[in-house]
Amino acid sequence: MNRIANVKPSLKNDGAVSTSNTGDFRAEVIAGLSAAQKTLPCKYFYDERGAQLFEAICRTPEYYVTRTEMALLQSHAAEIATLAGSSAQLIEFGSGVPTKACVLLDSMKRPAAYVPIDICSASLFAELHNLAVRYPGLAVAPVRADFTRSLRLPEIFGARRRVGFFPGSTIGNFTPEDARAFLRRVAGVLGQEGMLVIGVDMKKNPRILDAAYSDAGGATAAFNLNLLKRINRELKATFDLDAFTHYAHYNEALGRVEMHLYSLAFQSVRVDGHLFSFTPGESIHTENSHKYAPDEFQALAREAGFQPTKLWMDEAKLFSLHCLNVGSIH
Ligand code: TRP
Repeated sequence: MNRIANVKPSLKNDGAVSTSNTGDFRAEVIAGLSAAQKTLPCKYFYDERGAQLFEAICRTPEYYVTRTEMALLQSHAAEIATLAGSSAQLIEFGSGVPTKACVLLDSMKRPAAYVPIDICSASLFAELHNLAVRYPGLAVAPVRADFTRSLRLPEIFGARRRVGFFPGSTIGNFTPEDARAFLRRVAGVLGQEGMLVIGVDMKKNPRILDAAYSDAGGATAAFNLNLLKRINRELKATFDLDAFTHYAHYNEALGRVEMHLYSLAFQSVRVDGHLFSFTPGESIHTENSHKYAPDEFQALAREAGFQPTKLWMDEAKLFSLHCLNVGSIH
């Protein structure tokens, strides 16, 4: 019998443990648009439509990240499963559609639990039935949370080692300083016996990177602009979606792809009683995606209290998959 684990922290009526709220959204949007370089926090891309558009990005020919990481997981799942041991619980940060987690769950020996953490509840609940059918006996404990803020995990009876899973190079969406701080907190919640499997996109030819974040079919542009649509809907704002355009480029000096929405005109936008003005060519910086050489990432992981144990890359050296053990903090 499959069961939805009985999670301890306060349950919302949608059944998932939740830590997000619209007050935060309003405050963060207004603070971001008030800065000299306007910004918006990238975690808010993922409303229901945003999550769908992200899946579309993952299928574009330009976005090599998803398929390259998937191939690495398939090639090394057996070894990862051996490292994880039996009755482990798999904790996925920013789960979305659990295709990649299933590759690990398929190989793991009697996995005790799958704990998907996502900011978007639609993503979490869409797959519950399929998981129940596919893995009888697996406890599935979805947690709706903004993992940049809260890392409370449910206690799962009978589960052994906590194995964290952080695919998709989401770690690159933090600045290196924030990534270090985040990983340190992850090490804390995974515990002394914990292990982390993490996908990290690598530095490479800027042309490959620029194309990956500006696909010709326009999925990434639609995803970026959907953030303004969401702000219009949820915060009663007046963004004119035709007056902003998507632009992404690799900033080699900082080792990151930057995503922006450029204003095409002089314009003012109202957000919940606040007025923001834009000049033509002024941008809202919506996301960074930092790229790491494997040794750079391992150094960062060590500083966060992890011991690197395995590293795999594809032949073209596009993407890296790391296994880290929680070690002692130096
Ligand atoms: N973690 C992914 C990355 O940095 C997220 C991502 C991919 C993304 N494409 C995007 C985020 C486009 C915003 C826009 O690669």
